[in-house]
Amino acid sequence: MTNKRHNAGILGTGYYVPEKRITNRDIEKMVDTNDAWIVERTGIRERRAAEPGTPVSEIACKAAEMAIEDAGVRAEDLDLIIFATLTPDYYIPSTACVLQMRLGAAKAAAFDLEAACSGFVYASAIAAQFIENGIYKHILVVGAEVLSNMVDWEDRNTCILFGDGAGAAVYGAVPEGEGILAFDLGADGTGGDTLIVPAGGSAQPTTEESIKARQHFMQMDGKAVFRFAVKVMGKTVLDALEKIGMDKSEIDHLIPHQANIRIVQAAAKRLDMPMDKVFVNLDKYGNTSAASIPIAIAEAQREHRFKKGDVIALAGFGAGLTWASCILRWTKEDK
Ligand SMILES: CC(C)(COP(=O)(O)OP(=O)(O)OC[C@H]1O[C@@H](n2cnc3c(N)ncnc32)[C@H](O)[C@@H]1OP(=O)(O)O)[C@@H](O)C(=O)NCCC(=O)NCCS
Repeated sequence: MTNKRHNAGILGTGYYVPEKRITNRDIEKMVDTNDAWIVERTGIRERRAAEPGTPVSEIACKAAEMAIEDAGVRAEDLDLIIFATLTPDYYIPSTACVLQMRLGAAKAAAFDLEAACSGFVYASAIAAQFIENGIYKHILVVGAEVLSNMVDWEDRNTCILFGDGAGAAVYGAVPEGEGILAFDLGADGTGGDTLIVPAGGSAQPTTEESIKARQHFMQMDGKAVFRFAVKVMGKTVLDALEKIGMDKSEIDHLIPHQANIRIVQAAAKRLDMPMDKVFVNLDKYGNTSAASIPIAIAEAQREHRFKKGDVIALAGFGAGLTWASCILRWTKEDK
């Protein structure tokens, strides 16, 4: 039983990546690794890094302004801001509130959402509820990260993978049959320790010892995350498709979370999709967590990849463990 009054769709997109590039060769100087290994095992060639001390709200604001302009609305028109991030400006206030101030979106309610790399799709599913039931007209969903602060630049397991960036979308009502058609969200908390920042929260407050032990940086069991990702990425898309009786052959574009090319290829194989239907930019940006999917959507749009009416599948997975997918029919004219 649903009380759907409208369909919710993307009215505008935006993205921003910091200018500073960190290439695999740069990382060779920091840890025992090499360009050939990183490219072969991950597909990543370089990633972006914000200047030290850059708050994530600053890069998010640039992406948000682009999305607001693309949507043809004003910041004052926003009813709600949902900010997906695992690298917030502060514990309090929420980064969504900081962004609301930066944008001058005085009317907007605002909150943060933490579902790691699945965050943008989780946030989009929430935004869709408010649009569909007619409570809100314009919702800004942002996924943005400054992961360069959270990565241990002495740990070759993780520092090769991540990058900084911001992506945003404005959601609003769209004609019936367009916009978000289905989504699938999931979590498995039993896998929480496979990707974790152990210290700094209430479970293990920051102490001198925790800092010395480098426990306020990300720690990862790469193989376990890899196995999980390969299992879940294609499946979540199939589960979303099943809810609307759609077949995988009807998907025109897959926008996967940009973690590792081998994970992306495995998802494409599960969905019988040729790689030319799969958008990949992880070679340039690495894994930007919650920012990865909205950056990819915004970039693909600007590369004129989407035609009005195309069916797009978004698919993410991440710490938590979490996964999320969304099937949407593109509603914008290609300009
Ligand atoms: C991290 C990841 C790239 C490692 O790739 P892998 O193929 O699993 O590599 P392994 O850990 O099996 O290591 C293979 C070998 O390379 C070595 N190695 C590990 N990291 C290395 C690095 N950065 N550079 C060079 N060699 C490295 C290992 O020591 C190992 O050597 P050995 O065979 O002599 O023991 C991969 O597991 C991965 O991408 N996992 C998912 C991570 C992810 O997406 N996280 C974010 C989720 S949102």
